[in-house]
Amino acid sequence: MPDQAELPAWATGLAARAGGADFWVRAPGRVNLIGEHTDYTGGLVLPVALDLEIRGVVRVRGDARIRVRSLSLDSADEFAIGAEDEDRGPEFGRYVRGVLAGLARSRVPGWEWAGFDLTLDSTLPVAAGLSSSAALEGATAMAATAVNGIDATPEELVGACHWAENEFVGLACGVMDQSICIHGRPGHAMLLDCGDGARRHIRLGDLAIVVADTGSERRLSASAYNQRRSQCEQGLATLAEQSPGLQSLRQVDPDMLERRRAELPPIIYRRLRHVVGENRRVEVMAGALAAGDRRVMGDAMAASHQSLRDDFEVSSSELDAMVESARDAPGLIGSRLTGAGFGGCTVSLVEPEKTAEFGAALAEGYRRRCGREARVYACRSAAGAAWGRLEGA
Ligand code: GLA
Repeated sequence: MPDQAELPAWATGLAARAGGADFWVRAPGRVNLIGEHTDYTGGLVLPVALDLEIRGVVRVRGDARIRVRSLSLDSADEFAIGAEDEDRGPEFGRYVRGVLAGLARSRVPGWEWAGFDLTLDSTLPVAAGLSSSAALEGATAMAATAVNGIDATPEELVGACHWAENEFVGLACGVMDQSICIHGRPGHAMLLDCGDGARRHIRLGDLAIVVADTGSERRLSASAYNQRRSQCEQGLATLAEQSPGLQSLRQVDPDMLERRRAELPPIIYRRLRHVVGENRRVEVMAGALAAGDRRVMGDAMAASHQSLRDDFEVSSSELDAMVESARDAPGLIGSRLTGAGFGGCTVSLVEPEKTAEFGAALAEGYRRRCGREARVYACRSAAGAAWGRLEGA
């Protein structure tokens, strides 16, 4: 992955705080416009990389140790390369350790095991459903790339980050977050087929993206997430009993699901109805984005939220209240919960000239409904993870 020529404005200041550095790294958070809980069943997703990001500076060490410090979390971890699984450090360190173990495991050519000090800072809210963990993984992959001159393909980096989260941290997530973190493009959403890895970047045009954090804790998220995933797998296995050729929920269309409804327990049927319908909605949304058809975008996002709330059951009263508040606010094109759910954020597409008014009305509506303060971010789309050299810092 090539380094970028342009020095970010924050890099020199962060290097000074770190006491000097050789490289800078950055990795974006993401918001998913539509295609929720589809990635781990080989489905379609449509995420955007955001200008909310994890940034860092890296200093090469003379030994084989890694020292990582997060200024935003006020936490630090240190370990020897090759001993990532020993002496468990703080939780955020698991992601860093996992990526290094993942890169080593995939035997990326050129990996030479040089240690480094990584000082991180962040503009990305943690545990809000904006993929701060994938950003942390991406920033670590960039640091390892910069220091070691790894000649890894973007796909290899995505693979190491995804492995870290699944096998090292223990969340059985799909590949959406790590993919957009590495492959994001400013001005574009990325249509990703998680079945065959095909990517298509679609222009966002003049749409404004407003992310609203409900500030509510993501209750039970890891266990409920893993449970949803196994319910989808159970549904596929049940349908495959009568259809031996069936290997993915992508092969199931809404008509077929209706015909075979009686084979499935009601709750599993509803989970599959979400996934099958959501894949269709991503296709519709991608077409509407390309054509600039705001009404179709809004309908697809509303139907997605409803399906996540009623069929997949991953919404919360706060997320529902935020989406209702968006409906009353000026300039709305479409709004829905984003990410895994169970708390966290909504995403709204908004007419650009109404962004400020929309944000104020959204916060006011949410305050009235929930008695809580929303954190509202008018976001820009951004590029995927990158690194560069710092001269003389
Ligand atoms: C989390 C996971 C993703 C995806 C979403 C739900 O963000 O990390 O892989 O499954 O939830 O769409």
